[in-house]
Amino acid sequence: MKERLKVAFVGVSGRGSGLMNLVLDTMPDIEVAAVCDLYADRTAAARRRVFEKTGKEPFASTDHREVVALPEVDAVVTPSSWTSHVDVCLDAMNAGKYAATEVGGAPSIEDCWELVRTSERTGMPCMMLENCCYGREEMAVLRMAREGVFGELIHCKGAYSHDLREEICRGLENRHYRIHNFSHRAGDLYPTHALGPLAKILRINNGNRFVSLTSMQTKSRGLNLWAKEHMGEDSEIAKRDFAAGDVVTTMIKCAHGETIVLTHDNCLPRPYSRGCLVQGTRGLWSEDKNACMIEGRDKVRAEGWDPHAWEPMESIFKDYEHPLWEEFLNDGVRGGHGGMDYLVLRAFFEAAMKEETPPITVYDVASWMAITTLSEDSCHMGSMPVAVPDFTRGKWIEPKCAPRGKYSLDEVCGEAFGEK
Ligand SMILES: NC(=O)c1ccc[n+]([C@@H]2O[C@H](COP(=O)([O-])OP(=O)(O)OC[C@H]3O[C@@H](n4cnc5c(N)ncnc54)[C@H](O)[C@@H]3O)[C@@H](O)[C@H]2O)c1
Repeated sequence: MKERLKVAFVGVSGRGSGLMNLVLDTMPDIEVAAVCDLYADRTAAARRRVFEKTGKEPFASTDHREVVALPEVDAVVTPSSWTSHVDVCLDAMNAGKYAATEVGGAPSIEDCWELVRTSERTGMPCMMLENCCYGREEMAVLRMAREGVFGELIHCKGAYSHDLREEICRGLENRHYRIHNFSHRAGDLYPTHALGPLAKILRINNGNRFVSLTSMQTKSRGLNLWAKEHMGEDSEIAKRDFAAGDVVTTMIKCAHGETIVLTHDNCLPRPYSRGCLVQGTRGLWSEDKNACMIEGRDKVRAEGWDPHAWEPMESIFKDYEHPLWEEFLNDGVRGGHGGMDYLVLRAFFEAAMKEETPPITVYDVASWMAITTLSEDSCHMGSMPVAVPDFTRGKWIEPKCAPRGKYSLDEVCGEAFGEK
């Protein structure tokens, strides 16, 4: 096991610099050895920040191929734009590095296959930094699912409901990639914040798999209206013909009969929600309610408790807190998005230090990212069902968990926390 890891950051805008700062501020065993962005000013700012914090100059370049080729770099983190994740990860794996992609959908199915083939050929893993897999609620629900609390799982829901009208409409002046995707692509462009945790709960690629999906989108109105009111009636964005619908609904069928409804909803005024729901034969979790309803739990609750009433998560945590979160709460929660960013980075870095398969495998990355491309196809074909490729090529049938450990998303590994 390596005691220290040297990492490169490719893409150091808002997200990249946030993750890099988290590493610099909280992870003394991780060295930021190289920084890279297509924009020279962003590369220079990241280099300055590393120097100010550590007194050491990182390697800096606007060409990611120079960065991934550095012999001293062990792992490459890619918080770049959606359509560049695959290229950078392929180059990183081909150079013998652990690769981590930030979240986002795939531009093509061929890209997903290429990730799988390259990882298998080089022996280098590629993990998605899907921080929501490490959310407190999601991890408690994972534990409950593994302990059979929900009974047999039947149906799930999830969403990326986030008012991003300003970020999208101001994308040209802010040099942000989202506007280009919304301009040219239909479908669910950002499925994984909900889909990642749900896929792990449903054991996708590990005893189960996505089989097919159908997707439908509404008309597009929200971005034009926002631009008209904030950028002027004559602004180009106010008149742009966006390809992405305001609300996209995707239904996924799994091999063992479960269904997932996903919503992508970034162009209308609304509060943030990932809207997750996990429902089985014995009860359900609702993220929006911040509660569960579990058949029979009224027996462990106060006299007279309505068996159909929601039970707040605060009460559920008393019995089903995931041990990783128990430890994290005791040690002090760190990092953005309520601590999930810290946990997902540690999961990746510690797998790279141990030279193990990370808890989110290349098969997960391919099948989660593929949902975007397939949703685009289905939207363009009148919501025709489309098949989801089996990126494991049949290996999903024989469940094979990633190595046991604290960060496992396959099982809850009590022994990693000192439990007998
Ligand atoms: N997990 C989360 O909670 C979370 C939150 C925010 C953003 N993100 C993800 O992080 C990524 C970046 O988001 P952002 O808001 O910082 O976007 P951004 O558009 O502001 O930044 C992306 C940066 O990547 C750079 N880039 C693109 N291709 C590159 C390449 N080949 N080599 C070097 N640099 C390259 C761009 O120049 C740009 O500076 C996206 O994938 C986004 O989905 C995740």
